[in-house]
Amino acid sequence: MTNMTPSKEILDPIEIASRDEITALQEQRMAWSLRHAYENSAFFKANFDKHGAHPDDFKTLADLAKFPFTMKQDLRDTYPFGMFAVPEEKVARIHGSSGTTGKPTVVGYTANDISNWADCVARSIRASGGRAGDKCHISYGYGLFTGGLGAHYGAERLGCTVIPMSGGMTERQVQLIQDFKPRIIMVTPSYMLAILDEFKRQGIDPRSSSLQVGIFGAEPWTNAMREEIEQAFDMHAVDIYGLSEVMGPGVANECVETKDGLHVWEDHFYPEIIDPATGEVLPDGEMGELVFTTLTKEALPMVRYRTRDLTRILPGTARSMRRIEKITGRSDDMIILRGVNVFPTQIEEQILKCKGLAPHFQIELVTSGRMDAMVVHVEATPAMASADARAVSAKELSHHIKSVVGISTKIEVHDPDGIARSEGKAKRVVDNRSA
Ligand code: DLL
Repeated sequence: MTNMTPSKEILDPIEIASRDEITALQEQRMAWSLRHAYENSAFFKANFDKHGAHPDDFKTLADLAKFPFTMKQDLRDTYPFGMFAVPEEKVARIHGSSGTTGKPTVVGYTANDISNWADCVARSIRASGGRAGDKCHISYGYGLFTGGLGAHYGAERLGCTVIPMSGGMTERQVQLIQDFKPRIIMVTPSYMLAILDEFKRQGIDPRSSSLQVGIFGAEPWTNAMREEIEQAFDMHAVDIYGLSEVMGPGVANECVETKDGLHVWEDHFYPEIIDPATGEVLPDGEMGELVFTTLTKEALPMVRYRTRDLTRILPGTARSMRRIEKITGRSDDMIILRGVNVFPTQIEEQILKCKGLAPHFQIELVTSGRMDAMVVHVEATPAMASADARAVSAKELSHHIKSVVGISTKIEVHDPDGIARSEGKAKRVVDNRSA
């Protein structure tokens, strides 16, 4: 893997501006954004009024705490377009997140929003080590999901040659990677593992592929998984974060030269960490729920949107903009097992320590007697798939989980290929507990 520290000249000046400059820009844009939301969106006007907040109350960033949060439920209650702050004919694009139940969450963009989004994703790809002229293979799903089109416009903006594959047809993915020789791939980390298996199935050494940079996100993944993918492909694996309610991919991104958490593109998105129980703002460095306020969005401004994602804010390193630590998980995905809080990422880390196990897994929650219990379904690697080897792997994993995470689990080691592959976001938890 080559050293990819970018020269300062190719960065946007704001990426390496002083904190004072960044704060000044944020204050100016925040004042605009709060006023825009209040004056043009019936939802935000009503919500501010209800909480006795007014855009005139905003003088410095510390004043943001006076404004009410926005929740996913607010988008559902105003479905489909009730939160928009521009007339419908100014909305250039609609996206949505599928959600598991009921109606999708609908978001909208003006032509300016789409352009700013392309800039943020272009900046993210550049931070990941991508450059104009690179071929970029996009396997995030195209459609209402923001992953495919969001990545696409950003890669075009940077000047890449875009290969709009979308998800699925894994055999085809490998064939086109071999034939077109992209330098960059953008895909969920779980689907990258399915692509890895397909390389092996076709007898192709993944380390011989043209891929040098993978930009992985849309779901939580661990540094252990990074290591696994980087070794398997001899490539850099970099984390991209975002959510449709705030924009889509490209809200924050790691820098390839440091890989130490994701720089939030703070000229467009203002991050806060709150205590999820009380809503109180926590100082940088403390773990809590990530909240975003958009600074430039026109069609759908967001004021203090509660993401449910758990992380903490850290100072800038490779860029002046602050970082978020790799996301541990969503509060919705937190499993509470006999009083212990567990995230799927903690299980992933332990699986990756076991030589005989492949990193495909699913967690099943069941009722055992009157207690909740956890079954970890995981796959044997082809080389260690005998019954004896599997029993050893199961014991090893159960031991790691018990000693590091602190819970007793039942481990079921399946045949190679025995766990369903995701083509997008992996579903890590299946709840089969009796009510
Ligand atoms: O997943 C946007 C996206 C597409 C991001 C492609 C990165 C790459 P949603 O479908 O609205 O949007 O889901 C957003 O996914 O609140 C997190 O819980 C999770 N998520 C996204 N990126 C990461 C990441 C897209 N890098 C939700 N690490 C977010 C952990 C992530 N979780």
